[in-house]
Amino acid sequence: MSSRVPLTYGRKVIELFRNPKNLGKIEDADAEALAGSLACGDMIAIYLKVDEGNGLITDAKFESYGCAANIAAASILTEMIKGKTLQEAWGISWRDISNELGGLPPVKYHCGVLAVGALRRAIRAYYEKRPKPEWLPKEQTQEEKHALEEEMLMEILANKMRSERHQSSTAQANDIERNE
Ligand code: FES
Repeated sequence: MSSRVPLTYGRKVIELFRNPKNLGKIEDADAEALAGSLACGDMIAIYLKVDEGNGLITDAKFESYGCAANIAAASILTEMIKGKTLQEAWGISWRDISNELGGLPPVKYHCGVLAVGALRRAIRAYYEKRPKPEWLPKEQTQEEKHALEEEMLMEILANKMRSERHQSSTAQANDIERNE
């Protein structure tokens, strides 16, 4: 008998997993960012359209390569930030996301952290070539670090996989040469 306990997602998580809102890419986004988790291999991309004049987020979309909580968290987050200023959106925490979703199982808290990390990285990307507002912290927040560090690890992993693939194709080529 399996000792694994099935995850109990709330109604809202399941509903947004099945019918996510704002799923897709904004081709002419004013800012975008990707956050990934090596722990689970999941990723979230966030796209923002911003009214330059008043800093309001006029549109937000996401792409998700992840679990049900990842999809639901990104979906609700994009709903929450539409119509908000970048500063207001910056203030959203993973707990706010979890509350809006009616709660996440503890093992899925990091799915909300990843969504916040992706959003904050997108907001930072927006200000890369613009004057930075005072409210934008100079140091990265935990959520951004979480995403960044793990993304760096993913790059290392991808390089490793590329080099393993290269080694295996070199070995195959050597085998072919030997058999000719
Ligand atoms: Fe990692 Fe959901 S299990 S984002």
